[in-house]
Amino acid sequence: MCKSIIILGIESSCDDTSAAIIKNGKKLSNIIGSQKIHEKYGGVVPELASRAHQQNIVPVVHQAIKESGINKNQISAVAFTRGPGLLGSLLVGVSFAKSFGLALGIPIIDVNHMHGHILAHFIKEKNKIYNPPKFPFLCLTVSGGHTQIVKVNDYLDFELIGETIDDAAGEAFDKSAKTLGMKYPGGPLIDKYAQNGNPYAFTFGIPKVDGLNFSFSGLKTSILYFIQKNLKENPNFITHNLEDICSSIQHSIINILINKLEKASEQTRINEVAIAGGVSANSGLRKRLKQMEKTHNWKTYIPPFSYCTDNAAMIAITGYYKYLNNEFCSQEITANARLKL
Ligand code: KG4
Ligand code: ZN
Repeated sequence: MCKSIIILGIESSCDDTSAAIIKNGKKLSNIIGSQKIHEKYGGVVPELASRAHQQNIVPVVHQAIKESGINKNQISAVAFTRGPGLLGSLLVGVSFAKSFGLALGIPIIDVNHMHGHILAHFIKEKNKIYNPPKFPFLCLTVSGGHTQIVKVNDYLDFELIGETIDDAAGEAFDKSAKTLGMKYPGGPLIDKYAQNGNPYAFTFGIPKVDGLNFSFSGLKTSILYFIQKNLKENPNFITHNLEDICSSIQHSIINILINKLEKASEQTRINEVAIAGGVSANSGLRKRLKQMEKTHNWKTYIPPFSYCTDNAAMIAITGYYKYLNNEFCSQEITANARLKL
């Protein structure tokens, strides 16, 4: 009989401490300890994030093992996020994974956070239909720190074909939200207010970037100047127009993303298209992608909400495929805040 492969995944790259158990590719548990402390600072404070990870990591791992129903001695390997991310935050997960592996005498597997976001599409779940993208597919990975278009040839074979040259799409959401006086992270709030607004009420600068790369810093500045100018004329401009402003901002960001994705699909002749990362939770983006099935004959793949933002199940599933491929790392491994895809 085949031995079960059980992977403990650890994710601590930013402000979520997460641990998950995946058995033969199927999720048994996925615990996420989010850090509320950053809300009032308008962004993640690295020093506070690493301290909170240190407090959370043991209880979060304990809970993930408990909820999975397995015994810790059954774990085959520990997969952890090596990078990219905040160094102090990564160090907590990396050190924990190394010690845990050493204590149990099991291998450890380093995972690139961005691979994790993409492979979240391959997590099997109890009582859910498994319908992952077919290789090769395109994945738009949009998070608070990254915006990439990746050609995914196989589970562990990725080609970066486009990326942002400045801000990430999530940053464009969060910084615009900050300009509107919202707390961090503002992306989900813009999404909420955008639902009832008019996406064509206001227009902002459109970036001109060659090829499949993105730029969001011009848009951010254009939004800032637009708000400042209108507040001078009407101090209640934001409150009176919040839904329309949010809807117009969201529409602009989605347009930039979808236009490049369309270009990527034309260039590669691939029409299997997936999205991943925190911004893939955005309802406008999800809707727009679904429309592309009808207008462009794409087959689209949208992760469940729980796998859009940072989570350890995506790290564990990547660890699972690396395990099958015998890709382990040594105890010498260190965190890499700028790890490339
Ligand atoms: O992948 P993620 O959890 O962390 C990083 O790796 O960065 O992504 C977080 C980002 C934040 O910028 C957050 O505002 C954004 O995802 N986000 C959203 C939504 N939910 C999360 N942006 C727009 N609409 C949403 N519904
Ligand atoms: Zn992420």
